[in-house]
Amino acid sequence: MVSRTIPVDPFDLIIIGGTGDLARRKILPALFRRFVAGQMGKGSQVIGAARTEMDTPAYRQMVSDAIAEFGGPEKKDKANLKKFLATVCYITLDARGTAGWEELGETVHSENIRAFYFSVGPGLFGDLAKRLHKYGMSDDRCRIVVEKPFGHDLASARELNAVLAKHFDESQIYRIDHYLGKETVQNLMAVRFGNMLFEPLWNSQYVDHIQITVSESVGVGGRGGYYDKSGAMRDMMQNHLMQLFCLIAMEPPAKFDPDSVRDEKLKVIRALDPLAPENIVRGQYEATETKPSYRKQVGNRDSTTESFVALKANISNWRWAGTPFYLRTGKRLRERASEIAVVFKDAPHSIFGEDAGRHRNILTIKLQPNEGIVLGVTIKEPGPGGMRLIDVPLDMTFAEALGPEQAGFPDAYERLIMDVIRGNQTLFMRGDEVEAAWAWTDPIIAAFGEQDPPLPYATGSSGPDEALALIHRDGRAWREIKA
Ligand code: BG6
Repeated sequence: MVSRTIPVDPFDLIIIGGTGDLARRKILPALFRRFVAGQMGKGSQVIGAARTEMDTPAYRQMVSDAIAEFGGPEKKDKANLKKFLATVCYITLDARGTAGWEELGETVHSENIRAFYFSVGPGLFGDLAKRLHKYGMSDDRCRIVVEKPFGHDLASARELNAVLAKHFDESQIYRIDHYLGKETVQNLMAVRFGNMLFEPLWNSQYVDHIQITVSESVGVGGRGGYYDKSGAMRDMMQNHLMQLFCLIAMEPPAKFDPDSVRDEKLKVIRALDPLAPENIVRGQYEATETKPSYRKQVGNRDSTTESFVALKANISNWRWAGTPFYLRTGKRLRERASEIAVVFKDAPHSIFGEDAGRHRNILTIKLQPNEGIVLGVTIKEPGPGGMRLIDVPLDMTFAEALGPEQAGFPDAYERLIMDVIRGNQTLFMRGDEVEAAWAWTDPIIAAFGEQDPPLPYATGSSGPDEALALIHRDGRAWREIKA
C-alpha cells in the first residue's frame, strides 16, 4: 500500500520565534520531512523571524543543525536538505516595535498562502496581530497558528480570543493541539464512523466504562518554570486528554468538516458534570537515587503543583449517562504509553458456567508508542479439554497491517502544518471549544487551594495508590501502563 502525497499550494510559513525550541524540535523538521515527501509546493518559502540578530546563512546553519538532531531518517538526504535550505531565510523582527516589519512585508510572496506561526508567549499575540494588520499582511490569504497553552484559565483564554478577533476572522485562526494530529487519533474517528460495527454499541447500554491514559516516563526536565505554574491539569488534561475525550464521546458529526466536528466536541464538554472533589486525585513524583524529585526539579521546595492527575468524569446526555470516563496523565510514570480503552459490558448471561471466567471485550486505541487499534475478543481455548474461554487480540497495529512504507507515520506537526496550508481547521480547536474546556477545568483547579497537596508517588510507578482506589471503589481497575 503506497501513501499518496498531494502537494499543497505554494505557501510562506513565517515562524515567529523561529530560533526557539519548538521551531527547532518540531516545526522545522516537520517542514523538511514534508519537503522531502514532495508536498511543499514550488515557490514556497520558510521565513524564520525572531528578535535575535542573525543573518540568513547563520539561520540556515541553525536549521540544518536542528534537522540533524530532530529530522528523523530523512535527515540523511543531503541533496534535499540543500534544496530545502534554499527556501529558508531569516528576518530580525521586533514583535513590539517597528524593526523588521517592512522587510517582512517585502519578503512574503503576495500570491502565496501566508501562515504566521506564533511560536512565542501569548503575551505577544496582540502585538503581532496588530502589526500583521498594520503592515498589510492580514488579508484572507493569511492564517495564524497559535500553540497551547491557550490561556491559563477562562478569563485569559477569552482575552486572547478577543485580541485575535480584532484583526482576524475565526476561519483564519488555527489553535494547535498536537494530539489531534496524531495518526491514531484520526484513526479513532475512521474506526468509529467508517464502520457499522462499533457505533451501535457505542453507548452506556453496551459500554461499561472508558479509560484514557497518557503516561510519560520523563519528568519536567528543563521546563520547570513553566510547568510549576501549570501542572498536569493545565498542561495535559485541559487540552490533550479533553480532546481525546471529546472525540471518543461525541455524536457522529453530519460531515467530516471543521464546524460539524467541532460543534459535536463542544456539546460533549458542555454536557460534562462538574467534578466532585472525591473524583480527582493529584500526585507529585518523588526522587530516586539518580533522579531529582519534582520539587527539586522545578526549584520550589513547597510546590503544590501536580505532576499527575487522575479523575472520573460523567457526561449527562442520553448516550453516556451511567458510563464513567476515567482519565489519568502524569510524568515519571512507569512507561511512555498512551491509550484509550473502551471496556464493554459483560455478556448478560454466561452459558459456559463459572469455570469459563469473566471475559470482556475491550477496544484499545493505542496512541503511542506502537500506534494501533486492538479489539479483545473471547474465543474457546484450543484443545480437547473443556469449554474454556480465552481472550485474543484482533490486532490492527498499523505497522503490521499496512506494511513497511506506512510504518513511519508523519509526525503530528507535519499533518497539522499541511492542514493549515490547505485551510482545513477540522483538527484545530475553535475559540468556543477552548473556552468551554477552561470553563469545566477552572472550578476544579480553583478547588485545589482548599484541598490536600498532591500525594507523593514513586518514579516508575502508576501514580499514587489513591488513584488506583479512585477506580477500585467502583469495582473496576486501571489497565496496566504498558507500551
Ligand atoms: C505537551 C506538554 O503539550 O505535550 C508536555 O506540554 C508533554 O508536558 C507533551 O510532555 C507530550 O506530547 P507527546 O506527543 O510526547 O505525547
